[in-house]
Parts: sequence; structure tokens; C-alpha cells
Amino acid sequence: MAPPAPTDTAAPPARPAPAPVRWWQRPWILPLALFSLTFLLYSVPPYFSLDPADARLPIPETPSWYFPMLVTHIFGGTLLTLLVILQVWPWLRAKYPAVHRWSGRVYVLAGIPLVGIPALLISPFSGSGTSTQISNTIWAVLWLGFTVLGYVMARRRRFADHREWMLRSFALIYGIAFNRVIIFLLIPIAVLQASPEALAGDPRELGMAIAPASSFLSWLVPLLFVEWWIKYRRPRRRRRPAAA
Ligand code: HEM
Repeated sequence: MAPPAPTDTAAPPARPAPAPVRWWQRPWILPLALFSLTFLLYSVPPYFSLDPADARLPIPETPSWYFPMLVTHIFGGTLLTLLVILQVWPWLRAKYPAVHRWSGRVYVLAGIPLVGIPALLISPFSGSGTSTQISNTIWAVLWLGFTVLGYVMARRRRFADHREWMLRSFALIYGIAFNRVIIFLLIPIAVLQASPEALAGDPRELGMAIAPASSFLSWLVPLLFVEWWIKYRRPRRRRRPAAA
């Protein structure tokens, strides 16, 4: 009698466990952490006094809730900046997946009420002009949308989609830190273009001149970078044909 033909129901051969990711195989994690900490140490301390006079941006008198909302946003943003480092750290994800899950829940469930919604509420009141108000509003809406989508995808166990939406969300969180780099690059351009009278005048005028460009570029450049990363730097496992 002929031996039975192999059927589709046979168990597939066990996949070899992926090799552990060593920190030196992901050399960007240390510079990213240092960049984040430098940004936080520079940007957040003026708000510890809870005095609007110490703020780095002009605080509008109305609405009265602007400053409390901004401070909530900044302290929540500090937490999220630190959590992003944990979330993208491959070693921690592989070694302690429970830490990844819990810090991810905190990122979403604390980030939406403490960072995203306050950002959306204060965006229309930015003292840097209409273009900045529009840019900030788009930035906040996109962050809220990406973060909710990332969370929903994780709940549905669609982890490839979860990863992509969360990378977009993290890119927008880095918008504020990247804003410092952009300002540093745009100021020389503004100085070169300014008239001698403008240069002798109030330096805040130069800040206002670059505010719309710096606002849009701050979140757009990290988002485009992450789109490139998602498209061209997918984990090799997902690019292999199914048969492999
Ligand atoms: C999607 C993420 C974020 C959005 C949409 C957002 C949005 C905003 C908006 C609308 C303002 C007011 C700007 C103005 O009135 O012109 C602001 C200010 C500020 N945000 Fe955020 N932000 C985000 C993430 C963060 C994070 C992660 C931090 C980290 C601490 C942070 C820290 C600050 C600080 C320090 C200010 C005061 C202005 C400054 O020093 O630049 N933000 N943000």
C-alpha cells in the first residue's frame, strides 16, 4: 500500500528562535536617549516654578486655563519622552515584554489626557501667529489619531500595524525636541535675510519670522523620516516570502 500523502494539516517545522538583539547592534538608542535627556533638562525646568513669567513662550492672558493646560502638557510630555526611549529599545522589548506592554499602556492612557488633548486645546491660542496655530493643531490631531490607531491595532493583535502607527506617534512626540534643532538651523537664514533695522530691533521679531516654518518642519521631518524607515527598514523577517 502506498504511504499516505502528506497533508496541509501537518505541523510546520519549528522556527529557530530569533537571535537576541545586543545593544551595539542598535547604536542609535544611546544617542536618542542622550538627545531626549538634553532636551528635557533644557526645556522643562522653567516650568517647575509654575510661574507664567518663567515660560519660554508668551503666555496669552485669555483663556485663563492656557497656562495650567500648558504645564500639564509639559509634565505629561516629559513622561512620554522617557517612555518612548523604553518603547523603542529593542533589548528591553525582547527581554522584558511585560515592561513594554505596561509602559505602552501608560504612554497611551496618560498621553491622551495629559499631552494630546491639552496640546489640541492650546494650539489655537499660540502667540506665534495663524500658521503656527494651524500647524500645532494638525500636529496634535495627528498624534491623537496615530496613538489611538496604534492602541486599537495592539488590542486586535495586529502587531505589524501596531508597530507602524506607534512609530508615527513616537515621531510626533520627538517633534518638540527636534524643534530646537530646526530653530538652530533656521536662525542663520533669518539673520541673513533680515534688514539692518530688523537686526538692531527686538530679537523676538526674528523668532516670529521663522515660527511658521519651524513649527511645520518640527513634526513633518520626523514623520517623513519614520515613513521612510517603515517602508525601507522593515524587520527582515517580514520582508521574506511566506514560503521561507
Ligand atoms: C504630539 C506631541 C505634541 C504636541 C502636538 C505638542 C503641542 C504643543 C503646543 C501646541 C504647544 C504650545 C506652543 C505655542 O503656543 O506656540 C506646546 C508647547 C510646549 N510643549 Fe508640546 N507638544 C507635543 C509634545 C511635547 C512633548 C513630548 C514635550 C516634552 C516635554 C513637550 C513640551 C513642550 C514645551 C516645553 C512647550 C513650551 C514651549 C517650548 O518651550 O517650546 N511637548 N506643545
